[in-house]
Amino acid sequence: MASVTLRGVSKSYGDVAALEPLDLEIKQGEFVTLLGPSGCGKTTTLRLIAGFLKPSQGRILFGGDDVTELPPHRREFGMVFQDYALFPHMTIGENIAFGLVERGRPKAEIDARVRELLQLIQLKDVEKRYPTELSGGQQQRVAVARAVAHSPQVLLMDEPLGALDLKLRESMQYEIRSIQQRIGITTVYVTHDQTEAMNMSDRIAVMNKGRLEQIGSGVDIYQRPSTRFVADFIGQINLVSAITAGPGLETSSVTIAGRNARIAKTMMPGLPITIGIRPEQIALRRADESIASGDNALPGKVASRQFSGNVMKIWVDVGLQEPIMLDFPPRAAPPEPGDAVAISWPVDGAVVLPE
Ligand SMILES: Nc1ncnc2c1ncn2[C@@H]1O[C@H](COP(=O)(O)OP(=O)(O)O)[C@@H](O)[C@H]1O
Ligand SMILES: [Mg+2]
Repeated sequence: MASVTLRGVSKSYGDVAALEPLDLEIKQGEFVTLLGPSGCGKTTTLRLIAGFLKPSQGRILFGGDDVTELPPHRREFGMVFQDYALFPHMTIGENIAFGLVERGRPKAEIDARVRELLQLIQLKDVEKRYPTELSGGQQQRVAVARAVAHSPQVLLMDEPLGALDLKLRESMQYEIRSIQQRIGITTVYVTHDQTEAMNMSDRIAVMNKGRLEQIGSGVDIYQRPSTRFVADFIGQINLVSAITAGPGLETSSVTIAGRNARIAKTMMPGLPITIGIRPEQIALRRADESIASGDNALPGKVASRQFSGNVMKIWVDVGLQEPIMLDFPPRAAPPEPGDAVAISWPVDGAVVLPE
């Protein structure tokens, strides 16, 4: 298995920059997901790695080898697309064997490899069936087996679960990840679904408008988003405008909606900043209850609430443009709209984002 390295790789269509110069290293055996909204350049990046597109600038390496000038068939990768694209007139076994037959491998080797792969994807008894006789999820497992049959260095997947319904998508996330780990293949995966990216990846590269915004583990990008875009795109977050009021040793005081609060960062006074607070970081009290000492607190009124099964979301008007959203523990008795309350959050439970 090889690492994949992109050095200053960019792609323009005429005047339109689909991908700004991108530096990215996917380590040997690593599962990296390109995540971002539609049109941000994910597919372009994947097609550049595959060689279906030529970069406008930059170099692409597999292992130590520069493959920038090589056509797709001379690069060692397998690919899975959203529409399974199995060959409908071939059996499952023939589909999986396709790349090996094309490469002229001996029949005994091909048969053994097909059996091994059917075992790997846990579909032993379907070898003689045709694609239409399999469910969408099963077909996509076959597509993965076909993509890795010739033992490529790299596996590329472009929204492979996009056509499946939510329940099946969740179990397939687990299936694909465990197949990838069992063969240890370096993988670049594309999705616009942040939960899918979180569930599957070693690292996530968050993209926006042809640029890499941040790369890191799911925990990194969720807990320490480095831009406003990442904070907003990954999970739910309250973005609150504040003005810094003065630095302390490891914290600074800030003004939010005319009240004092603290952030876990030393900053010069007088700067406009955005503070990001995740809903699960926020506690809710009745207005007359005391707040844990040291926590930030703002008084407000319950604006609305929404029960969604595992959680009750509550919106509290604290005098900002938008109400603050928080997760209320399901077993406690929730307040009613109009109730006077106070919200609070730990100083280190918020992130400070650049304007
Ligand atoms: N063949 C093309 N010609 C012109 N523009 C393109 C072409 N392919 C993609 N683009 C543009 O490049 C940008 C990135 O597209 P793409 O990589 O497909 O995004 P994603 O996969 O993240 O949805 C989009 O603005 C898209 O319209
Ligand atoms: Mg795409």
